[in-house]
Amino acid sequence: MDVKLISTGIQYSSLPESYKRPESERPKLSEVEDCENVPIIDLDCENRSLVVQQIGEACRDYGFFQVINHGVEKEAVEKMVEAAKEFFSLPVEEKMKLYSDEPSKKVRLSTSFNVKKEKVHNWRDYLRLHCFPLDQYLPQWPSNPPSFRDAASTYCMEVRKFGLRLEEAISESLGLQKAHIETVLGQQGQHMAVNFYPPCPQPELTYGLPAHTDPNTFTILLQDLHVSGLQVLHNGKWCTVKPLPDAFVVNIGDQLQALSNGRYRSVWHRAIVNAEKPRMSVASFLCPADDALISPLEELTGDGIGVVYRDFTYAEYYKKFWSRNLDQEHCLELFKN
Ligand code: OGA
Ligand code: NI
Repeated sequence: MDVKLISTGIQYSSLPESYKRPESERPKLSEVEDCENVPIIDLDCENRSLVVQQIGEACRDYGFFQVINHGVEKEAVEKMVEAAKEFFSLPVEEKMKLYSDEPSKKVRLSTSFNVKKEKVHNWRDYLRLHCFPLDQYLPQWPSNPPSFRDAASTYCMEVRKFGLRLEEAISESLGLQKAHIETVLGQQGQHMAVNFYPPCPQPELTYGLPAHTDPNTFTILLQDLHVSGLQVLHNGKWCTVKPLPDAFVVNIGDQLQALSNGRYRSVWHRAIVNAEKPRMSVASFLCPADDALISPLEELTGDGIGVVYRDFTYAEYYKKFWSRNLDQEHCLELFKN
């Protein structure tokens, strides 16, 4: 069996060569500080216009924010985390049944990012699941551990509700009708990546995920409460987003940057690894329907900026995204007018 996974139970004493970045690409961990003033949005706040205003500012200035009082039950989150941990502790032979490095597969366990394309690997294993419509994909999801399907489907449904609520507020924050973005995006897809980063013998030489932007609309990230690792680029500096209990990190993806005609930022972010502890995160990606036409909203192009990106369908964009390496230029650059 050719095992490419790194969550095998084996402790590595040094980093294999294929994970080592050249000097100029390393994360320079000693220079990274904690992010200050990360915007925190209270979605239950009674002052709706304040929430909308805060979201707008966060999307413009940071490209990410944390959300509290998001409506996702604590129990759903805990069960998801528990099931994900159990999954990654399964014997490697069991996990390998789901292994694939083919990006178009809708349910798969994989490693790094795009094993077939990339030159240097990343210190990450991940379970990637399509989640919507749920009944279409659920039968292919892991059946082991036995709790997995229940836990992950409840989690997905709750996160979707939260995401759609947030989308309304984002729409309003752009001065649009509440339902505007949802209407443009059509029957929205939802994907999940359960990321697992085992302890790494030389964290300063590699990444869990190198700098990237997410190709979808926006991402709802559940961070490990006990081990930080998410870093974002803010004002030209990498900074760590410290986990906040009962909160999700939301980052704007490429499609919102395009729809907003560049007003909102699909923020560069990365995951770093550490020597002592495994780290887990669960990323939920809301995506436009494949045939949704991504075109800047008319209301947002009349201010002298012009139309920044050409029109494209999400299917076209997604294909381009997966045909590249993760740490190249911003994928949206390829769609500029
Ligand atoms: C991702 C991602 C960050 C993390 O899955 O796209 O950016 O902290 N994850 O795991
Ligand atoms: Ni990401």
